Amino acid sequence: MPAIDVNHPLRVALAGFGQAGRCHAETWATMPGAIITGVYSLRPDVEATDIANVCGPHVPVYSDYERMLAESGCDFVSICTLHDTHAAEAIAAAKHGKHFIVEKPICLTPEDLLAVRRAVDSSGVRAFVGFQEFHYGQLQATIEAVDKGWLGRVHLAEIDYYNGIGPWVPQHWWARTRKIGRSSMLFCGCHPLMMLMLVMKGVKVAEVEAFATKTAAPDFADFEYPTTQVNLIRFADGRLGKVTSCLDSLNPYYWRNTLIGSEGTLIDTKIMSRVMLPGLDTKGWQQLATRSINDAGTVTPDMFRPMFERILANLRHDEPMPYSGFNAAFEMHRVLFACDEAARTGRPVSLP
Ligand SMILES: NC(=O)c1ccc[n+]([C@@H]2O[C@H](COP(=O)([O-])OP(=O)(O)OC[C@H]3O[C@@H](n4cnc5c(N)ncnc54)[C@H](O)[C@@H]3O)[C@@H](O)[C@H]2O)c1
Repeated sequence: MPAIDVNHPLRVALAGFGQAGRCHAETWATMPGAIITGVYSLRPDVEATDIANVCGPHVPVYSDYERMLAESGCDFVSICTLHDTHAAEAIAAAKHGKHFIVEKPICLTPEDLLAVRRAVDSSGVRAFVGFQEFHYGQLQATIEAVDKGWLGRVHLAEIDYYNGIGPWVPQHWWARTRKIGRSSMLFCGCHPLMMLMLVMKGVKVAEVEAFATKTAAPDFADFEYPTTQVNLIRFADGRLGKVTSCLDSLNPYYWRNTLIGSEGTLIDTKIMSRVMLPGLDTKGWQQLATRSINDAGTVTPDMFRPMFERILANLRHDEPMPYSGFNAAFEMHRVLFACDEAARTGRPVSLP
């Protein structure tokens, strides 16, 4: 049964109004079929004017999250606050019977991951996780190329994320801390790990190994955790993945995909396939003309719209939710916590 009546707009409340929250707000505010009914702000004194400009002058601004849940009349919450409050806010949303999207990561510990899972299951709300980058352009095309079988059985997937979260990045003040940013994988590596899980199509992970290091560049010296982590992932059916999460490179944001399969290869936007189309030169590359992922270092509202359209279609018409569904993200977080444990202990970690 659809979660939301198609005859009424989806009443959306927002938690957090930073870079991500503003993108969520601008997207929901311009979408037919949705209205914003309240905003929880961590800094109402600083953000109230901006919130009124984006969401409308009559939208109430709350400095208390629970009050917003109780009073705003929302059906749905976009949780875009800092990492250390995501789990509690997701659980509270579920307890109030509100569907929600939580920005990545869902939480910072395996215990909280299970607690959010239990709250979602027992309340029956629908939950989504903020991986908008798989809903358009290069990464969507890559996932769909695998789904169509153009690479055959992918036995090796290397997904590498290189970014520089130095003091010039607005999020640096909290991203660098163990309390809020927590680890390279939780801050950014969850994106390439999610990509790996999506191209491996839900096959269970058997075992991971991981190693972490950091740059010698002084720009990143105040990070409270190792900024670069390389993870080796063995799937239960024997296939292999490698995920790099590098927050201390000096280049512009760069995402690298290398997928090797039994019928072809895909590297970034180049694809070679023996089965894609008859008549193609099987020794040559085809170029995927598609929006590059490499403009995603700074998020903009247009990047969120395809994901939000799918959320609306899921809530109103029970349409499937690819790429950002809670179950897939839950599995990815289990693997992520195993990777972080492997990096911390220097030992391989098996997943039950
Ligand atoms: N899906 C994506 O691609 C994507 C992109 C960016 C952020 N995110 C996620 O969204 C969430 C929020 O990140 P963000 O980039 O919006 O963070 P942000 O730093 O822009 O803002 C986050 C919150 O921190 C508050 N804040 C900002 N400066 C503050 C200060 N000086 N003192 C106290 N509070 C302050 C803001 O009010 C806001 O509510 C995080 O979970 C992040 O990982 C996801």
